[in-house]
Amino acid sequence: MKLKRGWLIVFEGIDGTGKSTQCHKMETRMREYGVPVVRLREPTDGAWGQKIRKILSDGRGAVTPKEELSWFTEDRREDVEKNILPALRENKVVLLDRYYYSTAAYQGALGLDPEAICRDNEAFAPVPDLAYLFIVPPEQCLKRIEQSRDGYSSFERLEYLVKVQNIFESFHGPHIRKVDGVSSPDVIHGQLFLEIDELIGLNKIK
Ligand code: ADP
Ligand code: TYD
Repeated sequence: MKLKRGWLIVFEGIDGTGKSTQCHKMETRMREYGVPVVRLREPTDGAWGQKIRKILSDGRGAVTPKEELSWFTEDRREDVEKNILPALRENKVVLLDRYYYSTAAYQGALGLDPEAICRDNEAFAPVPDLAYLFIVPPEQCLKRIEQSRDGYSSFERLEYLVKVQNIFESFHGPHIRKVDGVSSPDVIHGQLFLEIDELIGLNKIK
């Protein structure tokens, strides 16, 4: 199937809301339809991403919020140039597990200005066609994480996640959709697929 343009669809929310699950499901469904699709995630596996993953596993240590912000921003700059823009130019659907709303919410929860973070990112990163913000009570997210992984990182403390989710909930815009992430994975996937199908017009292309 050939698309007339590329589409950028991002999956956002605090840890454990089910973003990765939905991103995978959507990729599978798109492939079934023969849609050209790439699934990406941030932080990436590049040099900045590796630096970031070290503080995710070992704790922030002496890294300041501004430094942390600059690492996530540099990682994204690289992702935009190397992966996101090329895929969009090839008229692919880009499914992205975390983007700059995560930076605005997580680094915003450290005391930096979420609006300024969004503005600075939008200077080099394309605004997505759809941004899904998954909302699940943080206590429930931590339970999900506890059941699926051994222990959680320093980024996943309840108090912090409550602040992060409050910032996510404050985002509004024509492309922003809040998703009730408490429903079952299949129900959520069905809702998202309906909307994406309509947006891209898959039925008309087939
Ligand atoms: P995230 O990418 O947002 O951190 P994941 O997709 O990795 O979240 O999901 C975290 C855990 O919660 C996994 O064990 C996953 O199987 C489970 N999970 C995902 N979606 C749901 C859902 N809708 N209801 C219950 N559990 C879910
Ligand atoms: P990720 O590996 O997606 O975690 P999870 O699978 O648990 O959702 O992301 C790693 C962590 O990085 C996550 O706690 C959120 C954080 N993060 C930021 O603080 N700022 C950012 O800009 C991004 C993209 C992620």
